[in-house]
This record gives sequence, structure tokens and C-alpha cells, in this order.
Amino acid sequence: MELLTVNNICKYFSGLKAVDDVSFNVKKGEIVSIIGPNGAGKTTLFNVISGHYTATKGKKIFDGKDITDLPAYKTAEVGITRTFQNIRLFSNLTVLENVMIGLHTKLKASILDSLLNIAKTKEEEVQCYDNAMELLKQVNLENKCMEYANNLSYGEQRRLEIIRALASKPKLLMLDEPTAGMTMQEAMELVQFINHLKYEEITILLIEHNMRVVMDISDRVVVLDHGVKIAEGKAHEIQSNEKVIEAYLGRRKNSA
Ligand SMILES: Nc1ncnc2c1ncn2[C@@H]1O[C@H](COP(=O)(O)OP(=O)(O)OP(=O)(O)O)[C@@H](O)[C@H]1O
Ligand SMILES: [Mg+2]
Repeated sequence: MELLTVNNICKYFSGLKAVDDVSFNVKKGEIVSIIGPNGAGKTTLFNVISGHYTATKGKKIFDGKDITDLPAYKTAEVGITRTFQNIRLFSNLTVLENVMIGLHTKLKASILDSLLNIAKTKEEEVQCYDNAMELLKQVNLENKCMEYANNLSYGEQRRLEIIRALASKPKLLMLDEPTAGMTMQEAMELVQFINHLKYEEITILLIEHNMRVVMDISDRVVVLDHGVKIAEGKAHEIQSNEKVIEAYLGRRKNSA
């Protein structure tokens, strides 16, 4: 069953066709990777899907609903959360506070509740703390819960951002280069963690440059080049696709 369908998505910046007529879908429970050379349009496509950009043309259907015109915060409310290529954490808040902010959008206690029934709010705060610590444990950050976010290593900050995105229990989690700046060991630990999310019925769409991660993790791969989808298939099919080798690997070789 399809969770996300994007149909003929275009995003133009003046004359530049950053995303040009891209269609694909993500089925419930799948891990789909988007790959392609630098500037291929991957992040722009993410921005369109998450509602941070409005598509120039095209349609997005999520969980049976047309979400084409929803802004980012509404898109998050229907169950799509994401991380960013350039990490966006509250650097002067602690690790714990960063996760609790992600959880707060789910808290039921309103301001009126807090005025009339302090106990309920307190109870929710305690639950919020417990949930945040539970999430941090999953990525081995519980011992750093009182650190300021900007004191974490790059890899730890990426893990924290993922946990914060997970805090609101999304149906679709979108990760823009989650292993960037990580050591190979950290990257492989993250792969394990992402794989485990599958069993929690979270569907994942990720942009990834690390080919070992792509091969290990993806049920399917979508390849972009110059804003256009040039291939789609299982990881091993993509690996031997002539167009992909030429566009992606070829250009990387040239720029190396
Ligand atoms: N807000 C913007 N205004 C104008 N041009 C933009 C904007 N965002 C992206 N672009 C351009 O769109 C093209 C695609 O960029 P995008 O960031 O989506 O690529 P990418 O595949 O994510 O690349 P990378 O692998 O380097 O992250 C690039 O030519 C980029 O300069
Ligand atoms: Mg990008």
C-alpha cells in the first residue's frame, strides 16, 4: 500500500529546473533512498515533499490525502517529519530539551489545562521526560542528556536530530544525508537503528551519499540527475544501471 505518491513534481527557480517532472512512490514500511550527484535536486525535492517549498507543478498524495498545498507545519501534523542537510538543533539548549521540544507538539495539556489542572500538566511533563530519555537511549545519547547540543560531535548531533524528528511519531521520516560527518562505524550503527525503525512501522525516505549505506539499507532507490529522475529500482539494479554509472559515479570520478 502506498503511503506517499509524488506525481510530476517540478520546482523551478527562475530559469533553473531544480526538480523536473519527478514521480515516484513510497510504500508503507519501505526504506527508499534518493541518490544523485551534487546539485541533482535531492534536497529541493525533500523541501517540496515536506512543504518547505511549494511545487511549481505536480501533486503529492500522503496516506490517501492530497497534501500538495499544505505548508510545512501542516505537513508535519499529518505525519511527515524530517531532518536537514545542515543540522538544525537548538544549540544552546540541552540534548534532553531538544527532544522534549519535539515531544511537546504531542502533549495534550492546553494552557487552560495548565491553569485549571496543574496535576495533569505535571503528569504529562514527567511522561515527556521519560519518553525523551527512552528515545535518547535508542541512539546511545542518554548519558549526554544534560550537555548543550552544540557540545556534541557531528555524528551525535545528527542522531539527536533524528530522534527529535521521531519524537512526534511520524508515519514518514525523511532524512537528508543522515550519515554525513559520521565515521564508518557510526554510520553502520545508524543503519542498524534505521533498520530497526522499520519494525516500529515507520516508513523512511532518505537522501544518502554513502553507497555502502544505500546498498545496506534501501528497499528501493530513486536516482536524480539535473533535476530529472534517471532511474529507479532495487539497490543492486541501480548499481549496474548504465545511466547511473555515467551520471553519478562518472561525475564523482571526474570531480575527485
Ligand atoms: N532556494 C534556491 N534558490 C535557487 N536555487 C536553488 C535553491 N535551492 C536549490 N537551488 C539550486 O537547485 C539545484 C539543486 O539543488 P539541491 O540542493 O536540491 O541539490 P542536492 O541534490 O541536494 O545537492 P547536494 O548533494 O549537494 O546536497 C542546484 O543547482 C541549486 O543551486
Ligand atoms: Mg542536498
